[in-house]
Amino acid sequence: MNIKQTLMGLVLAVTATISTEAQQVSLIPLPAEMTIGSGSFVWKDGQKLVYPAYAGDSVLAVCQRFSTDFEKATGVELKLKKRGQGAVVLKIDEQLGPEAYRLTTGPDGIRIEAARPAGFFYAFQTLKQLMPRNVMAGVPDASVKTWSMPAVTITDQPRYGWRGFMLDEGRHFFGKEEVKRVLDVMCAYKLNRFHWHLTEDQGWRIEIKKYPRLTEVGAWRNSRLLAWGDVKPDGQRYGGFYTQDDIREIVDYARERFIEIVPEIDMPGHFQAALAAYPELSCTPDQKHEVWLRQGVSGDVMNVASPKAVQFAKDVIDELTELFPFNYIHIGGDECPTRAWENNAECQALFKEIGAEKYRDLQGHFYRQLQAHIKAKPAAQQRHLIAWNEILGSNTDGLDLTVMAWVGADAAAKAAAQRGMNTILSPQIPYYINRRQSKDPSEPRSQGYGTETVEAVYNYQPAKGVDASLLPYYKGVQANFWTEYVIEPDTLEYLMLPRLAAVAEAGWTPQALRRYDDFVQRLQAEADYYKWADYEYGKHVFK
Ligand code: ACM
Repeated sequence: MNIKQTLMGLVLAVTATISTEAQQVSLIPLPAEMTIGSGSFVWKDGQKLVYPAYAGDSVLAVCQRFSTDFEKATGVELKLKKRGQGAVVLKIDEQLGPEAYRLTTGPDGIRIEAARPAGFFYAFQTLKQLMPRNVMAGVPDASVKTWSMPAVTITDQPRYGWRGFMLDEGRHFFGKEEVKRVLDVMCAYKLNRFHWHLTEDQGWRIEIKKYPRLTEVGAWRNSRLLAWGDVKPDGQRYGGFYTQDDIREIVDYARERFIEIVPEIDMPGHFQAALAAYPELSCTPDQKHEVWLRQGVSGDVMNVASPKAVQFAKDVIDELTELFPFNYIHIGGDECPTRAWENNAECQALFKEIGAEKYRDLQGHFYRQLQAHIKAKPAAQQRHLIAWNEILGSNTDGLDLTVMAWVGADAAAKAAAQRGMNTILSPQIPYYINRRQSKDPSEPRSQGYGTETVEAVYNYQPAKGVDASLLPYYKGVQANFWTEYVIEPDTLEYLMLPRLAAVAEAGWTPQALRRYDDFVQRLQAEADYYKWADYEYGKHVFK
């Protein structure tokens, strides 16, 4: 516990009555069905938590993590056992969906049913939110003498299977500890996809054994600030990257929290840092390429007609496949100017060879080769590819791609669905939560003009008015966080919270139950969570 948390403990001790009131039932995301009963459940040392048998003992693992964290926060020690009676009893109900759960709490005990470990995990997350927020933060509060919970009956499952958050570490690098804090707050809100934007013009952040210069050269640049308008390069040496051991550590951390990591290697645009390391992958191998010091869209892109570049992409995918035991790899595809291809003899020849209609078709051709490479792997190593919605401007025939819709997101998602492609909604406005959340001049420097208020983020309705026949292609929602201006973890957290909670609710809660005024009321309790866990957050809607 750091100093800030100790002080928080004192503040909460003084206001204990208020916090007892406030802890009533303020759940985010709001469950699909809930009734509030009478009475409460009181936790006591030595109570039994009975868990069901499950392949690989993975429900036991969920219980062990819960009881360890719970004990740390409350001092209450639970006894785990495999069968019999107990104060907390978990049972398998195969009828429930993969992330669904049923939770009943009351004076007689706690019952949890789920079909899969993820369902039990989410039930425990809900259970933590039924308690004072130091419990979700995993921080002790010595001022509480009795730990109790209101009586509720909840039957819950998410609206969407994809509930994501993207962090750009290409522009600025935050490091392992901050990424873990991001994963912690994600799972507090039942988000389940961490889209890790690991490469950019301004920095390459993941060790790739076959191409060591990516991190020897591509992870470092000569300015901490990224030039734009009145912001000038400052000449400071700046950078950082994740070793493969770091990646494995983060992967384990995410898996324990039922979060899949979606690594993104942005190709063929936003690729200048890699070209600084390996100029032979560019359209101008004889020229000097540098890790970019500016914001914006660079015209210095990968030469997609070069066999070396195609091999590079396949090699990188091979290492990603080993490192990330999940379903998806994001291959970028946004904002890739075609000018360099138009002026390059290899690209001109490829254009003719494949009978392209426009230079953008070279991008689809490039992705098709990557997909063929993946499809030739054994089943356990196959991954689905995702790309930003610009790919819809290329020939997508034969591409099994999920389209991440950001620019003109609603129209792009619909176009993807009409082509039979899965899609994820991450609309630039209002889901780019690195943008300003108010017009107040004290806001940290970031993009946008204050249009992405908590209310605007909350009120975006995913798939509004979409024809029922297309809805199966809509896989979920995602908040994105770009870091051109954001350098410090505190600024990241300040802009991310509480807006991440608003996006999480769009991904989980049925639209018919979502009301902004009700959300803001429930959100008030989250200030305690942010304070206990020492997160910075935007205070605009807190009383
Ligand atoms: C993007 O915002 N360029 C995906």
